[in-house]
Amino acid sequence: CSDPCRIVLVESIPEGMVYEDNGTVNPSTFEAWRSLIGAAKSRVDMASFYWTLTNNDTRTQEATAAQGEEILAELRQLPQRGVSVRVAVSSPSAEQPWDDLQALEESGASVRQVDMRRLTRGVLHTKFWIVDETHVYLGSANMDWRSLTQVKELGAAVYNCSCLAKDLGKMFEAYWVLGVPDASIPSPWPANYSTPYNKETPLEVQLNGTDARVYLSAQSAPPALCAAGSVIDAASEFVHIAVMSYLPTMEFSHPRRYWPTVDDHLRKAAYERHVPFRLLVGCGPHAKAAMFPFLRSLAAMSDNETHYAVEVRLFTVPVTEAQAKIPYARVNHNKYMVTDKAAYIGEWRLTGPLPARCARLYGTAGGPSQATVQAQLQAVFQRDWSSKYSRDIRTVGQWETLCRPH
Ligand SMILES: *[C@@H]1O[C@H](CO)[C@@H](O)[C@H](O)[C@H]1NC(C)=O
Ligand SMILES: *[C@@H]1O[C@H](CO)[C@@H](O)[C@H](O)[C@H]1NC(C)=O
Ligand SMILES: *[C@@H]1O[C@H](CO)[C@@H](O)[C@H](O)[C@H]1NC(C)=O
Ligand SMILES: *[C@@H]1O[C@H](CO)[C@@H](O)[C@H](O)[C@H]1NC(C)=O
Ligand SMILES: *[C@@H]1O[C@H](CO)[C@@H](O)[C@H](O)[C@H]1NC(C)=O
Ligand SMILES: *[C@@H]1O[C@H](CO)[C@@H](O)[C@H](O)[C@H]1NC(C)=O
Repeated sequence: CSDPCRIVLVESIPEGMVYEDNGTVNPSTFEAWRSLIGAAKSRVDMASFYWTLTNNDTRTQEATAAQGEEILAELRQLPQRGVSVRVAVSSPSAEQPWDDLQALEESGASVRQVDMRRLTRGVLHTKFWIVDETHVYLGSANMDWRSLTQVKELGAAVYNCSCLAKDLGKMFEAYWVLGVPDASIPSPWPANYSTPYNKETPLEVQLNGTDARVYLSAQSAPPALCAAGSVIDAASEFVHIAVMSYLPTMEFSHPRRYWPTVDDHLRKAAYERHVPFRLLVGCGPHAKAAMFPFLRSLAAMSDNETHYAVEVRLFTVPVTEAQAKIPYARVNHNKYMVTDKAAYIGEWRLTGPLPARCARLYGTAGGPSQATVQAQLQAVFQRDWSSKYSRDIRTVGQWETLCRPH
């Protein structure tokens, strides 16, 4: 691919979170979304989980919803500018508002609901944007005003990269055809939906002038966590992972299923190859009690005899009394992994292999220079890990006191 791809890591840092002066600062998700909307000339395709971009949707009166409301207003202006807008969204459950999508439809956008529950017993958890088959955004942020100002998110905007955008476009087209009423999953998918790019044959591309190898995990990827395991296996110097929650189980499975695949890869890396790993896990109202014994068990691998370099820390987004009233906010929602070999940005969770939930994988390897995605992602990890918001799990007594202060 000879496109002059430019990649920018983007983050949402919740209102009121302040890092040390030496902590890395990235452009905001809001700025990236605005620049993508501004760049759009012919088409914007968006895959989304749900839409709550306004105070109306959440029945709140928060000043910090202004950015989300601005994004919705700008998206609604696109059809007037001659830009076609297509939105694929997971079929909303009864309590999810439909107002934004209705407003978009009224403005001229096309919206299709993908009933993943019926099709795969999952949800369309994926979020990405494709603009003019040239620029993309992908990451953890939902189409939710809180994802811009109240929830910690991480993603990447890639500009002038039609090779990557076209590849992601195949995934969008797949969601799009699944969004017609009574759709069924084609078996097999027509050949034009398949991608030549995967772990073995990644897309070779220049990102900011640095050689990189990139692939997006396909929806149909083996359920074994969309290649996270192989990224861990390939590491020889370190594995750093940041996730919202960590459970070696299938999150939504009834009956309950234990699912230790990722856990096994981590323990194996420490035991067989002495690869140090650090796991930074979100600690907030969402935290489930079952998570803590599993995390303590990982941390317990490291002791004075074994010297396994296994470290587990809990990351807390600070919350005031007022912020605690905002539903589903103040969490560390980002999901990424950085090793000496690769960077991995996604919206996967380290819990069970629901294919529809781990559809987004972004692997890349670049040179050692500071300008690589890996170096920048490592700086993000380092900032969070060493910040005042992170605590060694071995020093945390009652997790409830830390994770649910209100
Ligand atoms: C929110 O609701 C009010 C009152 O129903 C309405 O006037 C306004 O247009 C709505 N705003 C948005 C962004 O939907
Ligand atoms: C894409 O590349 C062109 C030519 O270098 C440049 O003018 C334009 O600003 C770039 N677009 C974006 C969104 O970065
Ligand atoms: C594949 O081809 C079919 C038939 O021409 C078309 O409707 C569909 O959009 C194509 N899919 C992709 C991913 O290009
Ligand atoms: C490891 O050694 C230190 C210093 O000797 C000691 O304080 C600590 O309790 C030991 N930890 C374990 C798990 O044995
Ligand atoms: C790529 O270049 C842009 C400026 O054009 C910069 O903002 C961004 O941080 C760079 N990305 C990486 C990963 O170095
Ligand atoms: C910032 O400086 C402190 C104190 O020197 C250090 O402990 C921390 O690791 C640094 N953080 C980053 C992100 O480099």
